[in-house]
This record gives sequence, structure tokens and C-alpha cells, in this order.
Amino acid sequence: MKHFTQFESNTLAQELIDKALYFKNAPLAADAKGKGKRLGLIFLNPSLRTRVSTQIAASNLGIESIVLNMDKDGWALEMQEGAIMNKMTVEHIKDAAAVLGSYFDVLAIRAFPSLSNKKEDSDDFTINQFIKYANLPVVSLESAIRHPLQSLADMVTIKENLSENTKPKVVLTWAPHIKAIPHAVANSFAEWTLGCNYDLTITHPEGYELDERFTAGATIEHNQAKALEDADFVYVKNWSAFQSYGKIIHVDEPWLLTEEKLKRSPEAKVMHCLPVRRNLELSDEILDGSRSLVQQQAKNRIFAAQAVLDKIIS
Ligand code: CP
Repeated sequence: MKHFTQFESNTLAQELIDKALYFKNAPLAADAKGKGKRLGLIFLNPSLRTRVSTQIAASNLGIESIVLNMDKDGWALEMQEGAIMNKMTVEHIKDAAAVLGSYFDVLAIRAFPSLSNKKEDSDDFTINQFIKYANLPVVSLESAIRHPLQSLADMVTIKENLSENTKPKVVLTWAPHIKAIPHAVANSFAEWTLGCNYDLTITHPEGYELDERFTAGATIEHNQAKALEDADFVYVKNWSAFQSYGKIIHVDEPWLLTEEKLKRSPEAKVMHCLPVRRNLELSDEILDGSRSLVQQQAKNRIFAAQAVLDKIIS
């Protein structure tokens, strides 16, 4: 594994899940392994969990991490090849990524989509420009179309909560939001859930179909009540439209997940990557109740990142 930007195989996924669980029991078991190594955490967008959990993961392995909030502290980057830089951008990705590549052993990048240029976003243009010019291993801290560290932590959390049913019914349900939100978490969750051979049902209002690259093999069910029946895990997430790219489509029906809606799935555990807009995306009663796995997911972000960094520096 040179880079960590997407799901590669079930074999690798299971290895990383098991390693994350190992580190959860023994966080400092390899605390000298990364001695002398440096990780650059480059944020083009805000973060709470990803930033802190990845720094803790690096520290647990003895790796020094340096955070650069490019959105606040860095120069405005030009991403386009051959650009005449006579507008607002100050430094070309070619130069910046090459410099960062010479400072670090591993580079980790957060780069959200524009939600306006579908082709560039779908090609994961920004993170691929870093990969092209940095010439060192790159870890995605959430790109335009994927959030693999979140998904790995989600798979760890599902494994921890599996009962004797080794093929649980997993449901990804769309939730309301006031802003146009990226598809990355939903895409990655579908990619990893299907890749790990779980049974996935995706439910959303008409018009919110995700990119089929990520959902092939899932059951698409527009009736939320039907989708939720007998669910073992319910992952709640908003995303904007993919076909009408980056748009919010008005929805009349109430899509907020409540206890009432889970009556026919009494065992269901509820997941969300956070941050969550309470009582818009997900109700207080669920977030604060016994079904909620959201804090466990957030904690597992440390050990997912630790498993990935351990593999990359090995
Ligand atoms: N889930 C997640 O990636 O959280 P942050 O955006 O706070 O990093």
C-alpha cells in the first residue's frame, strides 16, 4: 500500500481493521516505530476529528506531525496546469507539493470538492495533483469524493458491534441539511461496506442518487420505512444531489431519523461521522440514546489512522 486514498481490497481492509483493534487495546505497542519520521497534515478545509485523531495516531507511533492549515495559513494554491497566475493564486501546486514532499515522509491531505465542477471533483483532481507532485505516500483526510479514514473507523466500529450475525443489514439513510454537502462520506461508506461484503441498502429521496461507481451492488430503496426494517446498522448522512450536481432538492417528506422510525428495527445501532446538526440531520433522542455509536466511531478514528500510518511506514 503506497497511498491510502480509497478502498483497495477486502484482504487489506480486514488487515487494517484488525490492526486498528490491536492498537485500540495497545495504543503504544509500536511507539518507536516512526521515530525520525515526519507526517505533514495539510488542510484545505476545516476539521476537528480528522486533524486531532491523526495527530494522536502519529504520536502513538513516534511520528512527528506538523499541521498546515492551508485555508488559513498557506498561500492560495493554483491547481491548473499551465495557468498564467495573474489572479488571486500565489503558489502553484507543482512547487508547493514538491517542497512539502521534501520536508516529510508521509503527506496527508484534506481537500473538499467544489460541488460546482463535477468533472474535476469526480476525478479527485486536487488530491491527485498532490500525489502527482509530492512524490511520497499520500493519505486522504477526505477528498472530493472519498473519506477512507472515516470509513475504516466505521468498519472497525461495525466489527466491534457485530452479534453472531456476520452478514448484518446495513442501511445508509439520507438526512436533511440546510447546506449543499459533499458526497465523500456516503460514497466511501458504500464503497467500504460493499467491499467488506456486507448487505447494504441505501435510502434517499428521488433525485439524491449517488455516483453509481460507489453504489453498484447496493439495494436502492426510496421508501425509508421499508429500508429501515430489520436493520442492524443505520448510517445517517446528508449529501447534495449528484445528477443535478451540488444542488439541494426540496423534499416534502420528513427524513429526520427518530425512534419512532426504528420501531421495526429494535436492534439497530445508529452511526454518523460527525459533525452532526442535531434535530435537523439526527434527533437528540437517538444521538443521546443507547443505539448511538457516534462517539465510538469518533474514538476509532485514532486507531484507524494508526493502522494506516503503521502500514505506510512499514
Ligand atoms: N468526521 C470527520 O471527518 O470529522 P471532521 O470533519 O471534524 O474531521
